[in-house]
Amino acid sequence: MLLGQSPKIESSQLAPHRNLAKVVARHAQHDYRNTIPQYALQSFAELDETIRADGRPLILDSGCGVGESSVQLALQHPQHLIIGIDKSAQRLDKSKSHALAASNVIFLRADLIHFWQLLEQSQWPVEKQYLLYPNPWPKPSHLQRRWHGHPIFPCLLKTSPEFVLRSNWLVYVQEFALAVEYLKAEQFHLQPLQGITPITPFERKYQASGHDLFELIIRCKSE
Ligand SMILES: C[S@@+](CC[C@H](N)C(=O)[O-])C[C@H]1O[C@@H](n2cnc3c(N)ncnc32)[C@H](O)[C@@H]1O
Repeated sequence: MLLGQSPKIESSQLAPHRNLAKVVARHAQHDYRNTIPQYALQSFAELDETIRADGRPLILDSGCGVGESSVQLALQHPQHLIIGIDKSAQRLDKSKSHALAASNVIFLRADLIHFWQLLEQSQWPVEKQYLLYPNPWPKPSHLQRRWHGHPIFPCLLKTSPEFVLRSNWLVYVQEFALAVEYLKAEQFHLQPLQGITPITPFERKYQASGHDLFELIIRCKSE
């Protein structure tokens, strides 16, 4: 698809889902425990050793795609170690060319559902976590596939003291903010993004196509 011709999100859902509060409350009642495959345990353990030896504070780019944003973050935060995580080997393969631009970035191929469960149990010094343009799942029946509608959400919120979410679908960002509010643990700030220099391919194509872009910043209260 040509840059500038990305269709806007179409959904019959024009406002936060009416079942959102019920779904988030149900997920908050139990710790989410999904079986973690051996390969995921192994790659997390290997990275754990690197993180412990490295000692720098971490910034996570969860769902980093081809890793362009991870490298931008690495250049902006030279004192931090940036970890880009994505489940797509094909996309991560493309991250190699970007990664040459910075030495403080590493990439991990992982399913975030497994990664966040392991991260919650770890002692990693995470300072901030980016969720840039997650898949919107715009059909109303897909609510539970959006991160805030998924049972992993309470666990996700425990993995970082600060989050930055960006999306071209206002409903997604509003729902995420509401889900955060329902769990009563955080402060947040929702703002439109205008005139920014894009840091991801999705951001670039949405901006070039004239979409409205939104950013939600969440700061978690310490327990
Ligand atoms: C819409 S793309 C956005 C990529 C990038 N952040 C950007 O803005 O260009 C969403 C990314 O999330 C990744 N993703 C979706 N679900 C995931 C999961 N469960 N675990 C890891 N990555 C996932 C996809 O592979 C994809 O690269």
